[in-house]
Amino acid sequence: MLALTSITEEILDLKQARRAVILAHHYQDAEIQDLADAVGDSLELARKARDFEGDVIAFCGVWFMAETAKVLNPQRIVVVPDRDASCSLVESCPADQVRAYRAAHPDHVIVSYINTSVEVKAESDILCTSRNAIQVVNSIPADKTVLFLPDINLGNYVKRQTGRENMKIWQGACIVHATFPARRLVKARVEHPNALVASHPECTPDVLAMSDFIGSTTSIIQWCASSEAGEFIVMTESGVLNSLQKLAPHKRFHFIPNENCNCSECPYMKRNTLEKLRECLRNLEPRVELSKEVMQRAALPIERMLAVK
Ligand code: 13P
Ligand code: SF4
Repeated sequence: MLALTSITEEILDLKQARRAVILAHHYQDAEIQDLADAVGDSLELARKARDFEGDVIAFCGVWFMAETAKVLNPQRIVVVPDRDASCSLVESCPADQVRAYRAAHPDHVIVSYINTSVEVKAESDILCTSRNAIQVVNSIPADKTVLFLPDINLGNYVKRQTGRENMKIWQGACIVHATFPARRLVKARVEHPNALVASHPECTPDVLAMSDFIGSTTSIIQWCASSEAGEFIVMTESGVLNSLQKLAPHKRFHFIPNENCNCSECPYMKRNTLEKLRECLRNLEPRVELSKEVMQRAALPIERMLAVK
């Protein structure tokens, strides 16, 4: 406990000395969330990154989120505690394949989920997050064919919700949400018959079909906290429990372990630790460095997304 207190103090001192802001995604460990200036889903964190004042952003999330923050803050330093905090969706979608698709289908509108590399963003017409994907797709003229990338489950969910026929979908998946087994959810519903089910749209269609609510991480937290129900099965990464317990301490939350780790954790997000956060603020490394050209090209689809209401 003493060690934890002193490392927290060191981080807060370094933060002040560096004129830094600490942004944390809901999937970070509770101790990181608790000392962050802002905790949020990927859309909220992109907005915070755009609006902050200071010299350094310490981004406690995954690398693509930090790249987005850098594109929105080309003059500022953006660091991440662990350079290998990647994402299976990013890895499923190489930029050269997207470039080849664009060359073969120049008339298609490319809608990229924010969980993509900055090089893929630079090839895209507009971005979206799990929170605004339906509004973003609805903002595209109905006669245009859309390529939605890279998440197959989010893409199919958006296609069902918008009723859009002319929508092609990449075949990427999240190694966390796409591996929550539907049969474990069935079992949990039997064990907790009064619980409502809240799911992230990266979950498989059979999980989504059993859900009472579908939304981004922040939307799930807000919905559970404001619902009249007292018990929930939460089909997303278990880091959201920190905010859920703060906002609704009297409610009960159950998580479904996936079959890879028998846990509900994102192995990429969990690479970040308090020690690595301290080191990245001390050394200003690992730092996001991007070419001017890629930042300029990626900024347009990001700004287009931020303008969608
Ligand atoms: P959110 O947009 O809900 O923050 O989701 C990001 C993510 O990586 C989900 O797995
Ligand atoms: Fe990527 Fe899935 Fe981890 Fe989110 S939970 S960062 S989509 S691997």
